[in-house]
Amino acid sequence: MTRPTNAIINTSALQANLQQVKNHAPQQKIMAVVKANAYGHGAARVANAIANDVDAFAVCCLEEAMQLRDINISQPIVILEGFFHPEELPIIVKQDLQIVISTAHQFKQLIKAKLEQPINIWIKVDTGMHRLGFTPKEAVSIYQLAEQNANIAEPIRLMSHLACADDLNSDITEQQIKLFSTLVEHLKVEEASLANSAGILGWPETHFNWVRPGIMLYGASPFPDSVNKELQPVMQLQSQLISVKRCYKGDTIGYGATWTCPQTMPVGVVAIGYADGYPRHAPIGTPVLVNDKRVPLIGRVSMDMITVDLRNQPNARVGDPVLLWGKDLPAEEIASLSGTIAYELFCNLGGRVKKGSFAKLL
Ligand SMILES: Cc1ncc(COP(=O)(O)O)c(C=O)c1O
Repeated sequence: MTRPTNAIINTSALQANLQQVKNHAPQQKIMAVVKANAYGHGAARVANAIANDVDAFAVCCLEEAMQLRDINISQPIVILEGFFHPEELPIIVKQDLQIVISTAHQFKQLIKAKLEQPINIWIKVDTGMHRLGFTPKEAVSIYQLAEQNANIAEPIRLMSHLACADDLNSDITEQQIKLFSTLVEHLKVEEASLANSAGILGWPETHFNWVRPGIMLYGASPFPDSVNKELQPVMQLQSQLISVKRCYKGDTIGYGATWTCPQTMPVGVVAIGYADGYPRHAPIGTPVLVNDKRVPLIGRVSMDMITVDLRNQPNARVGDPVLLWGKDLPAEEIASLSGTIAYELFCNLGGRVKKGSFAKLL
């Protein structure tokens, strides 16, 4: 028997969440964001589960795109950070990949490359994030130059990224929508994309032609400190009790002795720690499900273990199942208590956590 620490990926939940994207954006094409190993869920597993139901995939870099091509994903794949070196361009052509062009540096390298075929590009517009992308004015001239360049395929697409869509009262989002719409109309662009998950769920004016769902596909809400009941958690992070022992009043638990037993009580040890991606900053009291019942975390999170108060689970035994997040224990709740977001919890899943998947029989 090996260490019982697993992330189980529920592909039926993934498909149900994709259906929610379609319910919110029924007219739009869908670019499923599977960068960073599909937010820790396994890019190959996720892409295979939804390949027939999405119009494209989005990844961060060429290596991530190649992972999908290597498993015969034939849908369009958009590389969100474009390319880092011109040597990537012939591979991008050969693999029929699309790239986002966000800087004048990239654009210059693209137009002066010697390519066998033109590349499909998305011009990234900075409408308010002030990270990557051209100002709307620069985007007009880049778009016009791109139209005349043999290395760039038609149609030329436009995209931008929302900075504050998770705040439903954000003035910045209003402004981003206005700037992007004006540009799309001015250039008569046929294919444009602005919405991430928060845009899809909260801002219908951001939908344009293509939506780019990430976190909602994995069943977590993009909005802070909230859980969306329409979405189903895809990842079940689970382990087992590897020790149950009696501790006595005054005994302290774990590194730094941050928790003291108020009475004689059972204390459980679970085989999961920050090396597995469980957040080290999870505070005392963070819920953990032991035998489907909530028990509180006590003491500090260690590299390989956590300790839990089993007073409300007096019959718990070594080998009993423990859920860290998933169905009935939203990752959003653990993230919020730990001062982070579900995105980070998923992406930080440790390499030694075994991953498997299942699909519910419908
Ligand atoms: C350009 C771009 N589009 C879409 C997404 C998906 O965002 P979310 O996971 O919030 O839906 C991301 C994720 O960071 C992104 O970088």
